[in-house]
Amino acid sequence: MSQKIIRVGIIGGGLMGREVASAFARWMALADLPVRPVLHAVADLSEKVREWFRPLPGMALLTADYHALLADPAIDVVYVAVPHHLHQQIYLDVLRAGKDLLAEKPFGIDLPAAQAICHAAAEHRRFVRCSSEFPYFPGAQAVFQGAQSGTFGRLLEVHSGFHHSSDLDPTKPANWKRLSATCGQIGVMGDLGMHTLHLPLRLGWKPHKVYAQLQKGVPQRPGPDGQPVACDTWDNATLNTWIHADGQDVPLRLEMKRLAPGAANSWYFEVLGSDGGMRYNTAEPKTLYTFRRHGSQQSWERRDLGFAMPFPAITGGIFEPGFPDIMQQMWAAYLMEREGLLGSHLGCVRPDEALASHQLFAAALRSHADQTVETL
Ligand SMILES: NC(=O)c1ccc[n+]([C@@H]2O[C@H](COP(=O)([O-])OP(=O)(O)OC[C@H]3O[C@@H](n4cnc5c(N)ncnc54)[C@H](O)[C@@H]3O)[C@@H](O)[C@H]2O)c1
Repeated sequence: MSQKIIRVGIIGGGLMGREVASAFARWMALADLPVRPVLHAVADLSEKVREWFRPLPGMALLTADYHALLADPAIDVVYVAVPHHLHQQIYLDVLRAGKDLLAEKPFGIDLPAAQAICHAAAEHRRFVRCSSEFPYFPGAQAVFQGAQSGTFGRLLEVHSGFHHSSDLDPTKPANWKRLSATCGQIGVMGDLGMHTLHLPLRLGWKPHKVYAQLQKGVPQRPGPDGQPVACDTWDNATLNTWIHADGQDVPLRLEMKRLAPGAANSWYFEVLGSDGGMRYNTAEPKTLYTFRRHGSQQSWERRDLGFAMPFPAITGGIFEPGFPDIMQQMWAAYLMEREGLLGSHLGCVRPDEALASHQLFAAALRSHADQTVETL
């Protein structure tokens, strides 16, 4: 099959920039996709980071100045993965340069930044989406489809969360994600919150009330020179929210935690109704739990899903999916939607959904500060 080539520039070649380069480099793992991204240029302030990309096939430009990347007419799409305080300026520059954008979450450091980015995306009429890859696990897709199927009966509750535990180690060095100036006042909500909201928002479950419990963890961590650095961000956030569903109010509990004992990187989504429900947690990457009520009897079924990815891959159907696979699937969704070929697949987070997440996080900060239930 012939594939349309899309030339991509990456701004910010750190953890996520390299992950995306790796997803592109093994694009042949996807079967029969009519579109293929080619990494054309990388902009990063660090020479060491830039040099990592040099041997990659097709690399035409490595630069410290992202404006040089934006001036390259060969580039169709720009992926930006930089610290949160830089999102607004760089995303606006990408849009002004006439490029399409896959933006990393949280889509601006705060609500005003997200509003400015949404405004610019509409003004410049570019195809803009925000990164959220966990819903591309087969189990997450199954829960999403189950929730849409109407077979769960009366919706009773929804749980969506993302748990890390590496911050339990007080010797873990400080980085920009632990400082409000660079991560944002919303702290862990900006770090992990969009991941927990993609599916609820796409199902039409937009919180209209929130009561938030926020916690800080280790107040000081060693900096680059070993000296202590004050870490002031919220590390754990539990947002008890209400959504409208089937003509009634239903609780949606969102949990974002950097201090979750025992969880390395566990994203989960659970939807429970009176007649059925489903639960998926990336801690068991190919396992789906389904609840059913049969009259007065109830059961939980455990199913092994294998490699049932939304976009078919060459990988054997019995194998386990992982993080590199879902990054590639998310990019497939972005590029297919950009071509108008998404069909019934789940699309990436839209700007209005990223904005809705910021509206919730801003309300959560007020709720926690005043110990009130905030209405959105
Ligand atoms: N989708 C996910 O699962 C996921 C995971 C981790 C991080 N993220 C997001 O990705 C973004 C980046 O996080 P990261 O963990 O990759 O950070 P990182 O610190 O590993 O990398 C950031 C890179 O940006 C570069 N940079 C900083 N200022 C720059 C500038 N002006 N021009 C060019 N490059 C610049 C830095 O040199 C660094 O290499 C954040 O928005 C973060 O929330 C997403």
